Parts: sequence; C-alpha cells; structure tokens
Amino acid sequence: MILPRPVSFTRGDGEISFDGTVHVERVTGPAEGYRLSVTPDGVRVWASDDAGEFYARQTVRQLSGPAAFRSVAPVRVALPVCEVEDHPRFAWRGVMLDVARHFLPKHDLLRYVDLLAVHKLNVLHLHLTDDQGWRFESLKFPRLHEIGGWRPDSRFGDRRSGGMAGRPHGGYYTQDDLREVVAYAALRHITVVPEIDVPGHSQAAIAAYPELGVSGGEVWTDWGINPNVLKADESTVDFYRQVFDEVLDVFPGEVVGLGGDEAEAGDGRFVRRIAQYLRQRGRRPFGWDEVLGVGPLPSRTVIASWRGEDAGLTALERGHDVVMCPEKHVYLDYRQSDHPAEPIPVGTVTTLEDVYRYEPAAADRVLGAQANLWTEHLDSPRRLDYAAFPRLSAFAEVVWSPVARDEAEFLTRLAEHHLPRLDALGVEYRPLDGPRPWQALPGVPGFPR
Ligand code: ACM
Repeated sequence: MILPRPVSFTRGDGEISFDGTVHVERVTGPAEGYRLSVTPDGVRVWASDDAGEFYARQTVRQLSGPAAFRSVAPVRVALPVCEVEDHPRFAWRGVMLDVARHFLPKHDLLRYVDLLAVHKLNVLHLHLTDDQGWRFESLKFPRLHEIGGWRPDSRFGDRRSGGMAGRPHGGYYTQDDLREVVAYAALRHITVVPEIDVPGHSQAAIAAYPELGVSGGEVWTDWGINPNVLKADESTVDFYRQVFDEVLDVFPGEVVGLGGDEAEAGDGRFVRRIAQYLRQRGRRPFGWDEVLGVGPLPSRTVIASWRGEDAGLTALERGHDVVMCPEKHVYLDYRQSDHPAEPIPVGTVTTLEDVYRYEPAAADRVLGAQANLWTEHLDSPRRLDYAAFPRLSAFAEVVWSPVARDEAEFLTRLAEHHLPRLDALGVEYRPLDGPRPWQALPGVPGFPR
C-alpha cells in the first residue's frame, strides 16, 4: 500500500488509533533511510537523518489513508500495526519542469514541490530559459525578463500543423519568488537545480539583447530547434557569467545547469567557459549529454543522458557523474497510449507500464535518474497533471524502491491506494483506461512518432 514501495513492509494484526504523535530517534543507517514501527504502544521512527525522518512521516501519512492528503486532514486515524524498513535506491530522484515554454505560476510550482515530496522525489530541475521565454528575473539585465519573458503568440499544437494559437504568453519569477521556492523545497528535502540553457535555446535572451546572438529576432513563437545561437565572443561569455552570478545568489545548491542541448551551430568553447566559471565559483556544472562533445569539462560535471544511455556510459568512463533520463523511457510529455483521444499526441508511446519497466543502465554507478516534463504542449497545471500522473508515481518507485519490481502488484497498489491519494490531493491524472472527455483536446494537432 506504500508508494514508492519500501525495502520491507510487514503487516501485523489489527490497527491502532493514531493522533499524530510520532516518537523519533536518530540512528546510524543508510542516507535518507528510516525504520518505522506501528504497535499498540504507538508509532516509533528510527531515522538516519532529517530526510529519513521526513520520509518516515510521508509513509505514516500514506498509512493514514487518502483523507490524510486533504488540505484539512483528520485529527485521528486508524493505522495498521506494521513494521517498515526503508531507504532510497538512488541519491538523485529528479523531475525536470520546463517552465520556459509555458510559464507555471509560482503557486502551481509550489504545489508541484508538494507532489514531489509525496513521492519521495528529491530533485526539482527547473528549465528556466529557452527560445520561447526567459523566466528568471535579472536585476543586472532586466530586459531578459521584461522583454524575454513574453511572446506574442505560440504554435497551435505541433509546429508542423502551421497554425498559431493567436494568444500571447509569458511570465517570470522574481528572485524572491525563486528564493521562496528553494526554501519551500528545502523544507521537503528537495534540492532545486536551476538551468540557464546556453548556447542554443537562447532566442528569448537574444530578443532582449540582440548583441548576444549570431543573428537577432524576437522571442520565438515556434517550437523545435532554433538555428540562432549565442555568439561565443568574450562579451557574451562575460554577460552570462554575470547572469550566472545572479543565479548562484538565488540557488544555493551545488549543481547548476547550463543546458548545452541542441545547439547545432553552437561553439563548444562557450559551454566550456561557463562550465569552468561555475567550477571556479565552487559549483558543479550540469549539462545535457551534448556537452560531452565540447572538449574537456571540469571534473564531476553532471551529465543528463537524454538521447539514450550511451552518452551516460561515456560520461562515467570520463569520470563524470550521471543522471539517466533517456527520452524513450522517461519523457513524460510523450503520449501515454495509442488511444485516439490522447490529447496532442507527440513523441513515442510511453505508457505507465513502460515507465515502470525503466531500469537505469549502470545503476550501481549513476547518481540516479530523472523524468522530464517539456511543456510545449502542456500549457496549464491541468495539462501538466495529466501528463505527469500517474506515470511520475511509477517513476518514483523506479528510483526509490529495490530493483525487483512486480508490475501487477504495483498496478493494484496504485489503483487501490495511490490514485485515491492523488484524488484527495486534487491531481487531475490520466485515468488508467484513457482520458476523461474534457482531457481530450480534439482538433489540436499532435505529431505522433
Ligand atoms: C532535450 O530534450 N532537448 C534535452
């Protein structure tokens, strides 16, 4: 009934009446781990660290029933007598949210932090900039968010349809907003990893400061790979050093993203120099797997292996750290089925079961894995819920639970215990048998692969 499944769960006889009192002790044990005992004498937790205690409390909440996930939870619940032993399989249990293609208002971003915490996920990678929008307030270069934060229009569905939505879009987070998100996440043992994408996916910045680009142009209203990239000259590198200074001021985590993906005409020197700068500032650069092609990178650069897992294996050979996120398995914007009513179907079919079956390569050597939510076609929190859940629940189990997985048992546990929790939380997930009528978007063109 617990999700993600713990290392062990032994149910005893009967139930106890629980008023929220938990006796906690610190013990030595695996990082983020805990033991939990529910007996007629009460609820006891032995936790390795603060995170372990936090996860023990998440488990207690799950054992308390779906009502415990409502905004006003019951004061007293029945808990099953049981013993739980638990710790995570991977240290990096991540989700990437693309808040650039479609801005996610701060309130909804905080809600996503809560949803990650429920699933014992611990990294929120925020893709803050792209061709279609710049979402990070810059005090030094305010045109980045003032101009780069807005676009006059967007494609209506897949770009190959040629149609436009006819609606402006935009938004940005102030630095105070992001400090709040970082602090809110930290209370839930989630690290926020920011990403400023260079030297491609930079049209929004170029629209704000045309001298940064190889050619000029507006904030992009199309999807896809924009051939315009940042110039690799000294002044542009220096501009971005100053932008990253502001980013480092807001995000205290060690790992900081510089993107590096899909920059067909990009100059590798640009990425190398930003990576070196981050290292010099005491942080660890984090890039998409294309950055392996730019020449030597600082030691312990973190590589997000997305085009498959081979790049991740190469990165390991070169001594880097690796987060596996192969698009074939964990791109949660990809369509969930061949169902004719699947909304804006893009990418390859990636079912709930496909995500559950994902097993990271070199599992004993990687930092972990993350699921990615690109938002070209997820323009609201409701669309995000539909794409993310329940596949993210399956992913949470892949990165937390012991490797032996029983798909039938998972599906039963999901349907009987976890979907009611998501219902109580107000998550508008995709029902297991297909979209609800109002979740289908007939007439909005996709491009299924
Ligand atoms: C990516 O999907 N462009 C990292």
